[in-house]
Amino acid sequence: MTLTVNDLRVHYRTLRGEVRALDGVGFDLADGEILGLAGESGCGKTTLGKALIRLDGRMRHAGGTVTLDGEELPLSDDRAMNAYRFHKISLVPQYSMSALNPTRRIGRMVRELLASRGVSVDTDELHRRLALVGLEPGVLDRYPIELSGGMKQRAVMVISTLLDPSVLIADEVTSALDVSNQQAVVGALTGLRDKGLVTSMIFVTHDIGLTSHIADSIMVMYAGKLAEKAPTKILTTAPRHPYTKMLIGSLPQVGARYADKPLSGIAGSPPSLLDPPAGCRFRDRCPLADRQCAEEPPVVEIAPRHTVACWKAA
Ligand SMILES: Nc1ncnc2c1ncn2[C@@H]1O[C@H](COP(=O)(O)OP(=O)(O)OP(=O)(O)O)[C@@H](O)[C@H]1O
Ligand code: SF4
Ligand SMILES: [Mg+2]
Repeated sequence: MTLTVNDLRVHYRTLRGEVRALDGVGFDLADGEILGLAGESGCGKTTLGKALIRLDGRMRHAGGTVTLDGEELPLSDDRAMNAYRFHKISLVPQYSMSALNPTRRIGRMVRELLASRGVSVDTDELHRRLALVGLEPGVLDRYPIELSGGMKQRAVMVISTLLDPSVLIADEVTSALDVSNQQAVVGALTGLRDKGLVTSMIFVTHDIGLTSHIADSIMVMYAGKLAEKAPTKILTTAPRHPYTKMLIGSLPQVGARYADKPLSGIAGSPPSLLDPPAGCRFRDRCPLADRQCAEEPPVVEIAPRHTVACWKAA
C-alpha cells in the first residue's frame, strides 16, 4: 500500500473558531492506483491535498495519521516534512498554472526550484519527460504567457514529478481547460503513472464525469468526511450513498433537452464546518433521512474496496 490515511483531522484557525475542514477521513491508496477525489466545493479536497504536503500557518493537525511507503509522515513538523515533500509526495496545487511567475522563463523556474531543493536533473532527462507529456524542449525558453493553459499545466506536472515521487496529488488540474487540453492533461497524468515516474496518484476534481475516465477508484467527500469510496465502475454505476447517487444523477447528458430532462442538482447546501451538526452531515438534504441519521453513520466496507458512510447503505 503506497499511502494509508487514518482518521485524519485538519482544522483552520479563524477569528470565529476552528473550521473542521477534514474531520476524520480515512482511506488507502494502493500501489499504481489513481484515486479520483470528488465532492462539491468546500468539502475538503484541497485541504486534504495540502495537509499531505504542508500545513500553512492557519492549519492545525488535530489528529490522525498518514503513512507513506510504511513510514508515518510528520505532518505537524514543517522541517521534518522537507524530506518527503517533492521527493516522495508531490502536489500540483489548485490554480498553480495561473501562479507561475510571469517574468521567468519556464526553464529558469525549473532550475531555481531544483536548486532550492538541492537536487539536479540533467537536461536530457528533463527533455525526455517533457516529451512524455507532449511538450517540445523549446517550452523551457518560453514565458508562461506564451503557453496555453494545458501546456502550462503539463509543464507544472513535469516539474512536480522530477524526483519520481510515490504519490502525486493533482488538484483541479483540468478545471478551466477546454476538452482537448483536458484530454492532454489526463493523458499526461496516466503516462507518468504508466511509465512508473509516479507510483500512485490522487486526482482531485469536482467533475465526477471526467474523474471516471482516469481514476481506478473514486472517493466522494461530503462536508469534511468520506461519504463513499469504490472502484470507478461500481461507484458510477451502482453507488450506495444517497449523496453519490444524487451527484451522479445530476450529471448533464449530451443530447438530452432541458425540457425533457431538467437538470436536477442537489437542493440545499452543505452545513457550516465551523460548528457542524451532530449525526450524518448530509441529513438536511437527504431524501432517506430518518431518526437513526441523528447518529453519525460509521464508515463500513460493504464489499471489497467499497466503503460507505450511510445507515441505509449496508
Ligand atoms: N484558509 C482558510 N481559512 C478558513 N477556512 C478555510 C480556509 N481554506 C479553506 N477553508 C474552509 O475549509 C473547508 C474546505 O475547503 P477546501 O478548499 O479544502 O474545499 P474544496 O473541496 O477544495 O473546495 P473547491 O472545490 O471549491 O476547491 C471549506 O469550508 C472552506 O471554507
Ligand atoms: S445516514 Fe441517513 S441522512 Fe445520511 S446519507 Fe444515509 S440515509 Fe441519508
Ligand atoms: Mg479545492
